[in-house]
Amino acid sequence: MFGLIGKKSSSVLGVDVSSSSAKLLELSKQGDRYRVESYAVEPLPANAVVEKNITDVEAVGEVLKRVASKSRTSVKQVAVAVSGSAVITKVIQMDSGLNEFEMEDQIALEADQYIPYPLDEVAIDFEVQGPSESNPDQVDVLLAACRKENVDVREDALEIAGLNAKVVDVEAYALERAYELIEPQLDSQGEELVVAIMDIGATMTTLSVLAEGKTVYTREQIFGGKQLTEEIQRRYGLSTEEAGLAKKQGGLPDDYETEVLNPFREAVVQQVARALQFFFGASQYNAVDYVVLAGGTASIQGLTEMVEEKTGTPTLVANPFADMAVGSRVNASSLSNDAPSLMIACGLAMRSFD
Ligand SMILES: Nc1ncnc2c1ncn2[C@@H]1O[C@H](COP(=O)(O)OP(=O)(O)OP(=O)(O)O)[C@@H](O)[C@H]1O
Ligand SMILES: [Mg+2]
Repeated sequence: MFGLIGKKSSSVLGVDVSSSSAKLLELSKQGDRYRVESYAVEPLPANAVVEKNITDVEAVGEVLKRVASKSRTSVKQVAVAVSGSAVITKVIQMDSGLNEFEMEDQIALEADQYIPYPLDEVAIDFEVQGPSESNPDQVDVLLAACRKENVDVREDALEIAGLNAKVVDVEAYALERAYELIEPQLDSQGEELVVAIMDIGATMTTLSVLAEGKTVYTREQIFGGKQLTEEIQRRYGLSTEEAGLAKKQGGLPDDYETEVLNPFREAVVQQVARALQFFFGASQYNAVDYVVLAGGTASIQGLTEMVEEKTGTPTLVANPFADMAVGSRVNASSLSNDAPSLMIACGLAMRSFD
């Protein structure tokens, strides 16, 4: 069976292949403290990854090769993720007397009952969750399945870079794991926290709501920082690269702030507010305790204050590295700039320790 949920692993690199870049992160752990051992980000060519699908395996492979060499890591084993929308999960009940191999056999035999695809096209994994509430002789087993093709393209791209996909995880699980690093930064006053993580990337924005650290809702929208990049290009006649740099480093004409950046900030705030309204409408919740802004676009100055004001909810920018030590190979200032966009990479790198 495939390691979609995955079992214990030794040291792995967290590698997040998103639409704008490939991100690599390596962590070590001493006692309770993590240390960033290596990290690098490399931009991807346009359309090599479209809405979480790798469409150009060669191009992604070459970028992975660069990102690995830039990071100067010696680890070759990797944890990657497929997006939640590519994965079907289901909790089934099985006889608690079965051992792992017997379960595997039984699942292989019965999987066609649970999974609406031809079995030779899917990768399946399972994990025992614990005793079943309805029947003490049974255990709840989480089944996860996705199309093999989704796994294959990731393995193929990694292979081009001389890397090996040891763990194939699901983005939502990686995010949950990274959230363990954010939670201590929130004031819970001993209560169960409901936290909205808004990941605003280049092309996609994903709202994930976690209650007691477990994902209770996710929704993806097509929205992101690329819209701001394109507006900068159009208005000031810059290339994509120039506009992307100007966004981070400044140096644009005086009217940028009022004419371009402010309207974009307003659009981001609208997206956050609307996504939360959708969530409230689709769930029994009518409030969240915190909004956490993640993804590269969360780095735009002043967003937290605006989101806080609009939603009436305490808001912060995700920093999974707040309590981590940083190794000598790592450029600490670029790590801190990129921190909000490294949640998934971080949750994947944490697979080294489970
Ligand atoms: N300091 C910054 N200020 C403004 N925008 C920034 C900054 N740093 C990064 N960005 C923007 O964040 C976006 C990249 O974020 P991220 O790495 O989270 O996206 P992604 O995960 O590749 O995209 P997607 O989730 O859509 O696949 C780009 O649009 C980039 O221009
Ligand atoms: Mg992203």
